[in-house]
Amino acid sequence: MSIPRILTGDTPTGKLHLGHWVGSVENRVKLQDQYDCYFLIANMHAFTTRADKPDGIRESTIEIVKDWLACGVDPDRSTIVLQTETPGIAELSWFLAMLLPFNRVMRNPTLKSEIEDKKLGDSFSFGFPMYAVGQCADILIFKPELIPVGEDQVAHIEPCREVARRFNQIYCGVDPHTNDEDYVKAGGLFPIPKAEVGRVGRLPGVDGKKMSKSLNNAIYLSDSFKQIKKKVGQIFTGRQAMDEPGDTTNLLFDYVRAFITDEDRVAELEKKYSEGDNIGDGHVKAEVAEAIEAIIAPKREARAQFDTPGGEDKIIEIIKDGTRRANLVAEETLYEAKKAMKLDFGKRTLGQA
Ligand code: TRP
Repeated sequence: MSIPRILTGDTPTGKLHLGHWVGSVENRVKLQDQYDCYFLIANMHAFTTRADKPDGIRESTIEIVKDWLACGVDPDRSTIVLQTETPGIAELSWFLAMLLPFNRVMRNPTLKSEIEDKKLGDSFSFGFPMYAVGQCADILIFKPELIPVGEDQVAHIEPCREVARRFNQIYCGVDPHTNDEDYVKAGGLFPIPKAEVGRVGRLPGVDGKKMSKSLNNAIYLSDSFKQIKKKVGQIFTGRQAMDEPGDTTNLLFDYVRAFITDEDRVAELEKKYSEGDNIGDGHVKAEVAEAIEAIIAPKREARAQFDTPGGEDKIIEIIKDGTRRANLVAEETLYEAKKAMKLDFGKRTLGQA
């Protein structure tokens, strides 16, 4: 029996932050024990909004892989995939684009909010919405069962499931009434994969808005303890005094619950805070910063081995090795997809050692 697969990834538009960790990366690291894991660096997608920043995309590509390794992604067990060196993804994207109505792609709420947040207006590139189709191909070419993602990505997984059903129906003759779990059994090429959201689906930034590099409100997995303390200190609650009853649904307590692992302590803090029982915001913030430091400190240390001369070369070797293995799978799936589409004009040999 083959081990079930997962596929997920990040777009290299900046370093990873705590939102990535609690939403998805923490989960990925754990899933390595039970699944055959593929972790994609979606560098092609980075170009859809930053075509004029190739240096930044290159730098983020390396930094994200450093972040992954520091978090415990094991490149011997899991496969790190560089999107631009896995041509099967781009080819499959084209075919899948033909199975998704244009208006369906544009209705994607994640795409819409990105247009708003990044102030793209109506001048975004033709390639920009293509990334939503490309994401279907990123996933399906590895035929995974699960896609561990943060909440913001769930809207991207739905079209992927739709297009997988449609491909299976049109080109593999699967009955449209088939249950999602049975598509492969019924002769389909692609399993219908499921999103799996992490422990905290959506962690706001320290200003309460969406955590993002452009808003300057993110705590990075590579931040120093000093930076962590400073950023946690910026969380605004409006509370004035140690004896003022506080609201434990505020942003500060989102952080308390996300990062303080001792549940009894969380309950105690919630009680004291809501009663205004001699507890200052500064005190709670100090505990939150300590808890975040406990998560980040080992990663910072693990990361240091790559922040050396020659560190980047090691990362590039890891990327190349993973991508070579990924191409073996991707080429096989693409070949099967083409066969199903009556496009079988012979097999090619990309990715063979
Ligand atoms: N769009 C995702 C993000 O920006 C990254 C991504 C690209 C992805 N392809 C993927 C995530 C496939 C999951 C599966 O975070």
